[in-house]
Amino acid sequence: MTYSQEDYTRAVEVIRSRTTQTPRIGIVLGSGLGALAEEVESAVAVAYEDIPGFPRSTVFGHAGRLVIGQWVGGPVIMQQGRTHFYEGYSMEQVTFAIRLMRLLGVETVILTNAAGGVNKGFAVGDVMLIVDHINLVGMAGHNPLIGPNDERVGPRFIGMAQAYDRQLAALARRAAEAENVNLREGVYACVAGPNFETPAEIRMLRTIGADAVGMSTVHEVTAARHGGMRVLAFSGITNIGIDSLDVDADANHEEVLEAGKIIVPRMTAILRGVLAGIGQA
Ligand code: HPA
Repeated sequence: MTYSQEDYTRAVEVIRSRTTQTPRIGIVLGSGLGALAEEVESAVAVAYEDIPGFPRSTVFGHAGRLVIGQWVGGPVIMQQGRTHFYEGYSMEQVTFAIRLMRLLGVETVILTNAAGGVNKGFAVGDVMLIVDHINLVGMAGHNPLIGPNDERVGPRFIGMAQAYDRQLAALARRAAEAENVNLREGVYACVAGPNFETPAEIRMLRTIGADAVGMSTVHEVTAARHGGMRVLAFSGITNIGIDSLDVDADANHEEVLEAGKIIVPRMTAILRGVLAGIGQA
């Protein structure tokens, strides 16, 4: 076990000492999407290094701070920069921010990520609503719920048939339509990384029903569902998975960050609509 109850309590106290705002909505910003936090007004930013226990993102393109403030008429907390399993962090560390948000009173989590397109119909710059996932990392034994269960946080066994909230998904579809954003939908496959996939792996992912592939999000979704939070999640398609040995190009992190620039305004438009729809009474 990486954390004790006291560790979480100390982290909560640091945040509470910085702001009296109490967001019910948490937003996790993926690779290249951190710019969205600049939209937050009356923002209080808390650096990860100031939060005891908070793992630091070592990945270029990920800032390391929680931004708490007003967005679309209500308080939100944004995680600007996440940590990944491939950085060497434990599943508990990778999901620390989600657990912390829950303790701060967050009830709805919106997750975003950068992902490779597996579905042949996808293009770079597309936004995909995640309707389901394949947790290859979890199935291989790295699941954040492994270990002693704290009943105060959530039950030992949880269902995942409705991990992604249908009402929130409907709101997202409506928001995208209103904003003229072509919203794709599909299944996100989680791999450990950090290397990108081989062509054979891309073809395998397509065969098992994945539409996009990435190295994050599902651990956070799992922890959020364990804590009873509602989940909405999106992938920004930053590159297309290479499925043939005859292609000369290869995937790289720069193209992921570059595509983020096209994706940010689309993602922002959808999220604005979703937040307006949720209402923040
Ligand atoms: N594969 C895995 N993770 C990713 C990719 C990819 O092609 N693009 C962005 N994150």
